[in-house]
Amino acid sequence: MAKLCFSLLLLWQLQLCMQLIDSRSTVKFLPGFQGPLSFELETGYVGVGESEDAQLFYYFVKSEKNPKEDPLLLWLTGGPGCSAFSALVYEIGPINFNILEYNGSLPTLHLNPYSWTKEASILFVDSPVGTGFSYVRTPLASQTGDFKQVHQVDQFLRKWLMDHPEFLSNPFYVGGDSYSGITVPPLVQQISNENEEGIKPLINLQGYILGNPKTDKIVDKNSQIPFAHGMGLISNELYESLKITCGGDYANIDPSNVDCLNDNQAFSELISGLDQNHILEPRCPFFSPKPRDSNGKRRSLNDNEKSQEFLDPEPALPSIGCRSFGYMLSQNWENDYNVRKALQIRQGSKGKWQRCNYDLPYTQEIGSSFSFHVSLSTKGYRSLIYSGDHDMVVPFLGTEAWIKSLNYSIIDDWRPWILHSQVAGYTRTYSNRMTYATVKGGGHIAPEYRPAECYAMFQRWINHDPL
Ligand SMILES: *[C@@H]1O[C@H](CO)[C@@H](O)[C@H](O)[C@H]1NC(C)=O
Ligand SMILES: *[C@@H]1O[C@H](CO)[C@@H](O)[C@H](O)[C@H]1NC(C)=O
Repeated sequence: MAKLCFSLLLLWQLQLCMQLIDSRSTVKFLPGFQGPLSFELETGYVGVGESEDAQLFYYFVKSEKNPKEDPLLLWLTGGPGCSAFSALVYEIGPINFNILEYNGSLPTLHLNPYSWTKEASILFVDSPVGTGFSYVRTPLASQTGDFKQVHQVDQFLRKWLMDHPEFLSNPFYVGGDSYSGITVPPLVQQISNENEEGIKPLINLQGYILGNPKTDKIVDKNSQIPFAHGMGLISNELYESLKITCGGDYANIDPSNVDCLNDNQAFSELISGLDQNHILEPRCPFFSPKPRDSNGKRRSLNDNEKSQEFLDPEPALPSIGCRSFGYMLSQNWENDYNVRKALQIRQGSKGKWQRCNYDLPYTQEIGSSFSFHVSLSTKGYRSLIYSGDHDMVVPFLGTEAWIKSLNYSIIDDWRPWILHSQVAGYTRTYSNRMTYATVKGGGHIAPEYRPAECYAMFQRWINHDPL
């Protein structure tokens, strides 16, 4: 490869070629992990956009089963702005942090027995640009949004596959959670359209996977109050009153509707002490830099995903009993000099790494991704949609509501799905090849709370077995 490249005569071709070589590396050891890695990890950059001014960083983990034939999954984390590493180390990837009191030394890692990479090769992509280790070469390139992200990830995928042609024939899926519910469906649509137009390389697109996916601003929002009522968080009286005063619409409250505003205020106060990501968990400071607007005030999160953080005047560092304590460890680990060296991070490309960067100049253009599900349903792709059933950020009620509005008939009706003789959740399959599953006890990012169950669910679905 290197020889071939250096025999090229034109200077720009030579540079292009050297860049290709530079931009993928095999990682055999990771600081904090004992011994050589027992899985194959590659990291690298793919340049996208005009003059490749946006450099998207990725972690690629080869399937630990049969990478020649196992599916290839491209995974996007939510936010927008949360790093792919977050999915790799806390959700579905091969390593987890050891949760130990932090004393200033490098956090350590162990293998995750429930890694989805036991069934599929996974490409974890830091997208949109500005996320994780992805970076820009010009200020203009940092401007991003839903459509630009979709376009860039599609370009990323095509370039990556050209550089890894051995994966072109593997069944290909796109997956993600949370905010990715907005961007994954249009991405699948774009890949599908380009396949139909005959654009090369042909992508062996089979379907998509979404966990607690944001889908429709109104449907998702309107499911929070019925969820809170069903979970016993608000009184029957307040619930009945809310339905009347707000007419069941909590997403677009008329500012002159005082009764609805008052009821809504009462609702907000009642849930303010909870972790909305998982209503049974302790409410902890969410470890991520505090988003601020241009006046230096905290701006409200698009997602309202991490709203609990804003109730604290100055959130403290999370304590070890908090899930977010683990989030803090990734920041300590990824910003270590030797870790960056091991991951082959380009020197000077990125300042401090953040698990979630909410300061991205990102435009949310897609208020609802429902129409993409409508369109994809007609094309025969498979899909797995799952909901951690204790999530109040994107409650299962809203997800079930939009799936129902797709109007497909039921093939395998609502029933428990079982792991180790216990109910792990409930599932239903529709004639558009969509399987829906709840994950009992799961939160907004279900595999963080129920790793064994989520792994079993993925394993069955990806192998075309019933849940
Ligand atoms: C921190 O703790 C680890 C084990 O938990 C230990 O190996 C290390 O020596 C400690 N470092 C310091 C600076 O105390
Ligand atoms: C589903 O059926 C309802 C009632 O017939 C209809 O109003 C709606 O447009 C249909 N939805 C889709 C996505 O076709």
